[in-house]
Amino acid sequence: MSKPWWSGLDLRVLRQVRGVLRRRGLELTLVEERPSECAAFAPLSSDAPAGPGLAVLGAELSAPERGLVEIMLGEAAIDVAAVLRDRDAHPAGALAWGTEPPGRRTSYRGIIGGAPLMQDLYALLDRVAPSDSTVLIQGENGTGKELVARAIHEGSERRDRKFVVTNCSAFNDNLLDSELFGHKRGAFTGAVTDKPGLFEAAHLGTFFLDEIGDMSPALQVKVLRVLQEGTFHRVGDTEMRQVDVRILAATNKDLRAMVAAGQFREDLFYRIHVINVVVPPLRDRRDDIPLLIEHFLARHRRVRPKRLSPECAARMLAYPWPGNVRELENEIERLVVLAGDEPTIGTDLLSPRIRQWTPSDGGDADAHPDSLPAAVEALERRMIAAAMRRHRGNKTRAAEELKVSRRNLIRLVQKYQLE
Ligand SMILES: Nc1ncnc2c1ncn2[C@@H]1O[C@H](COP(=O)(O)OP(=O)(O)OP(=O)(O)O)[C@@H](O)[C@H]1O
Ligand SMILES: [Mg+2]
Repeated sequence: MSKPWWSGLDLRVLRQVRGVLRRRGLELTLVEERPSECAAFAPLSSDAPAGPGLAVLGAELSAPERGLVEIMLGEAAIDVAAVLRDRDAHPAGALAWGTEPPGRRTSYRGIIGGAPLMQDLYALLDRVAPSDSTVLIQGENGTGKELVARAIHEGSERRDRKFVVTNCSAFNDNLLDSELFGHKRGAFTGAVTDKPGLFEAAHLGTFFLDEIGDMSPALQVKVLRVLQEGTFHRVGDTEMRQVDVRILAATNKDLRAMVAAGQFREDLFYRIHVINVVVPPLRDRRDDIPLLIEHFLARHRRVRPKRLSPECAARMLAYPWPGNVRELENEIERLVVLAGDEPTIGTDLLSPRIRQWTPSDGGDADAHPDSLPAAVEALERRMIAAAMRRHRGNKTRAAEELKVSRRNLIRLVQKYQLE
């Protein structure tokens, strides 16, 4: 018997639909055009409502069943359309019907993560990296902004040239000026020779301005000029110099709010805001925690990677990681050192804040409601909001993860106004 077209396709929605149908002895088929007789149908593209799609052939469904199946098929059709697009984009058939959800990547040039939000990030980086355009990378501390900047450089034509990093908050204004643009001999006390700056060193390469929100307005003007004209002066020098650098900038501040408050130049903001890459916090991609733990355990191994005891792993999975990937990485490094020759890492070695963390430490306003119903509502709201974020608003997936019906989830999303 030849395998059905979806064999190996790991699309959870599709499996669910098939489960529902199997119990009724119905078959799901990929068709080129909408059959005249079918029990349910969802087109792959809204542009061609009678074109290719997913059809349930055979006996009839009751009206409520048909409604349910069509909703589920609608979700599955979106996934199938994406798979077909990917397959067409790789005519060598490399993608075929793999066992992994097709196109899903669990790492990207050193960035580890397979969560839906990371898939969006990788897809954006694919497009942005080769473009030579300025990119603003935003995200909380420790989310991997510098890794993203390096990935952009590595994916660009400049990859064989320099990648220069400067942390704008690490210097005072005068020092940063001379660091970035260089100085002329005698420009200030201690300037004993002419010195080129980092922009010159980065010529033809990529310049990563980290913590750009901490740069003074005077330097913001100089950077804007490099961006617009590629020109600058060394400190104390009149000669105009020219460089060709691609600028990437990062910040964990809300630059737009800083512009509104007059703390950041609006013209520079719009010049660097051309492409905005947001790196998600770890709490929005908790499914990646095991992957990251494994990655860091392997990296910090001495002889062979150590294991976490089940209790220790459970505590790490429950903890919210406000310091994001950096906090997780540091914790693993610490555990590996403390464990010494022990192959298994137990809970006792965990940092106290992680070992002792309980969900009520969450700290938000509704964390200490004074009645049971209020507490249940607060928990319900938090879990649903988190699942909706993780699944980018896909209610079928969120409902599946929370093990509630889609209809129930829709009701709760409305109740808590989480749309
Ligand atoms: N997705 C990831 N996969 C693997 N390692 C990661 C990831 N994200 C961050 N890291 C690691 O965590 C540490 C912090 O990352 P990085 O310096 O890029 O964060 P950042 O966003 O620049 O933080 P900050 O705002 O505090 O400077 C680094 O050691 C980095 O290698
Ligand atoms: Mg950083």
